[in-house]
Amino acid sequence: METKTPRESLTVLTDLVLPGETNYLDNLFGGELLARMDRACSIAARRHSRRIVVTASVNHVAFSKSVPVGSVVTVEAKVSRAFTSSMEVFVDVWIEDRQSGERTKVNEGIYTFVAVDETGKPVPIPKIQPETELEKERYDGALRRKQLSLILGGRMKPKDATELKALFLD
Ligand SMILES: CC(C)(COP(=O)(O)OP(=O)(O)OC[C@H]1O[C@@H](n2cnc3c(N)ncnc32)[C@H](O)[C@@H]1OP(=O)(O)O)[C@@H](O)C(=O)NCCC(=O)NCCS
Repeated sequence: METKTPRESLTVLTDLVLPGETNYLDNLFGGELLARMDRACSIAARRHSRRIVVTASVNHVAFSKSVPVGSVVTVEAKVSRAFTSSMEVFVDVWIEDRQSGERTKVNEGIYTFVAVDETGKPVPIPKIQPETELEKERYDGALRRKQLSLILGGRMKPKDATELKALFLD
């Protein structure tokens, strides 16, 4: 199977925040943003694997800034690492100033997707080769985050998490 790059999975979704999508403070409702992030990550995972993909885990989300009604929101997702059937996908969320166009990062998340066949059984996916410094940094940390996610999901014993142990022994 050919090796691919994170760039090949890049997915960019840009949309407005409408009044029906906000909370009592007139900021974007968190669940609405999560749905947009999940959609972008799902497309990125599909572009990498060219298979049916399902969300296996939301590993991390940080709502660092609120997103006011009327904002133009851009969600950018890219596969950071591919394992056997699972992929880690990083997603960054930006808003832009109406007049200057200057972008501010408001949120980021890390999702895990699994490629499956028509019966829902996991299938192998292409490997990935990071190119930029940021892509390499995200690639390097991905196994550690996978192990943490598997522990939290009750799928791995902490004693088997070699990467996490190495982190604390460094
Ligand atoms: C995700 C799913 C396909 C995993 O299937 P499974 O039969 O448990 O398969 P496996 O245990 O072989 O896991 C498959 C891969 O997923 C990874 N995985 C599973 N759960 C994970 C988790 N919580 N965090 C990180 N990785 C996970 C495994 O490590 C494995 O990765 P690898 O093949 O790259 O090494 C299955 O649990 C599923 O279909 N879940 C529902 C998905 C869904 O409906 N999502 C939408 C939610 S509305």
